[in-house]
Amino acid sequence: MAERRVKDSFTSNFGMVAAAIGSAIGLGNLWRFPYLVGQNGGAAFIIVYLAITLLIATPILLAEMVIGRRGGGSPRESYIAVSGRKGWGVAGIIGMVTCFMIMSFYVVVGGWTVKYLLLSLSMAFSRGAQIDSVGLFSGFVGSSFPPIFYAALFIILTVAIICVGVQKGIEKTSKLMMPLLFVLIILIGIRSVTLPGAGAGLEYLFKPDFSHFTFDSLLAALGQSFFSLSLGACMLITYGAYTPRSSNLTKNAAIITVSDTFFAVLAGCAIMPAVFAFGINPSEGAGLVFVTLPQIFTQMPLGGLCSILFFIALFLAALSSSVSLFEVITASLMDICRISRGKAAAITAVVLTLTGCVCSLSQGVLKHITIAGMNIFDQFDYLSSNFLMTLGGLLTVICVGWFVKKPAFMDEITSGGTVKVPRPLAEILFFVIKYAAPVVIIVTALSIIF
Ligand code: PFF
Repeated sequence: MAERRVKDSFTSNFGMVAAAIGSAIGLGNLWRFPYLVGQNGGAAFIIVYLAITLLIATPILLAEMVIGRRGGGSPRESYIAVSGRKGWGVAGIIGMVTCFMIMSFYVVVGGWTVKYLLLSLSMAFSRGAQIDSVGLFSGFVGSSFPPIFYAALFIILTVAIICVGVQKGIEKTSKLMMPLLFVLIILIGIRSVTLPGAGAGLEYLFKPDFSHFTFDSLLAALGQSFFSLSLGACMLITYGAYTPRSSNLTKNAAIITVSDTFFAVLAGCAIMPAVFAFGINPSEGAGLVFVTLPQIFTQMPLGGLCSILFFIALFLAALSSSVSLFEVITASLMDICRISRGKAAAITAVVLTLTGCVCSLSQGVLKHITIAGMNIFDQFDYLSSNFLMTLGGLLTVICVGWFVKKPAFMDEITSGGTVKVPRPLAEILFFVIKYAAPVVIIVTALSIIF
C-alpha cells in the first residue's frame, strides 16, 4: 500500500459515496439515457444496459477505486504506485485528457441548463405559454455569444466549488445536492405518471421490443454504461484517493451503481410517460429535454412548477458531474506541474473556456467544420465516450488484473482484512476484472473499428 499523497480527503464514507454518485448522476442520466432508450427499443435497451452495468461496469468501477485508494495520489501517481512501473503514469494522463474532452462539451450543455433554468423561473414554460420550442433551442445554441456566456457562468460555479477543496467544497455540496436530486426527480415522476395516457409510456419503458434493438444498440448500451458511471476517466481513481481506509469499496461500488441506475430509470419514468401522454415520438434524440419537454410543460397542469423542478434537477446533476471532471484535471495538474489547487483550477478554467467556446460555436458559426461527418461538439462527445473512456476502462482492468494482482486486490477490498467481503464474490469480481472485462472491451472495440 502506497503512502497517501493527497492532503485533503473526504471526512466520511457517506461523503465519498455522495460525491461519486454526484459524478455518476449527470446529463448522462437525464439527457442521454431517456433518448437512447427511446431510440433503441425501450425496455429491450434497459435490460441489456442493466446486464452490462451489473456484470462488467461495476467490477471496473471497483477496480478504479482500488487503484485510487491504494495509490493515494493523483491518477498518474496512483497508477505508478500500484503497478510499480513508471510507464503506467501515462494511463493517468490519458484519464486527464479524457476528462478534458468530456468537459469541453459538458460545460456547453451545462450552460444550456443554466439558461433553461432561468427561462423556467421566468415562467416561460408555464401552462398556456406560447413558445416555439424548436426555434427557441436552435436559435439559442446556434447563436455565438449567449451560449458561451452561460457556459462561462457554469465553469465559474464549478471552479468555485473546486477551489473550496475536497472536504468543504465537493463533499459538502454533494451531500446536499444528491438527496435533493432524488426528491426532485420523484416529484416530477409522480406528476408525469398521473397524466392521462401516461400508461403507454410506462409500457414502453418496461415492455421489451427487441425489433428496434440492433448491434449498434448494444454498443450504445456499453458506451452509456461507461459514461453514466463515469468510468475510464480516472474519476474514481481520483475520488478513491480521498476515500477513508476503513471504507468497504465493494459495498460502495454497489451503492454507486444501484443509485445511478435507479436514477436513470426514474428519469425515464419522469420523461417517457409525459412524452406518450402528449403523443410525441419517443425517439426524438438529443433535443428531448430541451425541445420536447418545454413543449410538454406548456400543455400540462402544473407545467410551470414541473419545468422549474426539472431544470433545477438537470442543473444540479450537471454541476456535480462537472465538479468531478474538473477535479480529475485539477488533481492531475497539481501533481504534474507541482502547483497549488487554486493555480491548477485557474489554468483548467482558462483552457476549458477556450475549448468550450469552440464546442459551442460548432453548433453555429463553426458548423461547417466537420471531422468524419460530425461537428466538433459531436466529435468530442463521440471520441471521449466511445474511444477514450473505453481505453481508460481497459487500462484500469489490465493494471489491476495483471499488475496489482490478486493478493493486493484482496487486501485492498478487505481494507487489510478488517472488512468482510464474501470470498466467492471477491473471486468473481477479480475474474471479471482480469479476464472477462478486457475481452468484452477488446471485442467491442474491434467490432467498432471493423
Ligand atoms: N457520469 C456523468 C453523466 O452521466 O453525465 C458524466 C461523467 C462525469 C463522465 C465524470 C466521466 C466523468 F469522469
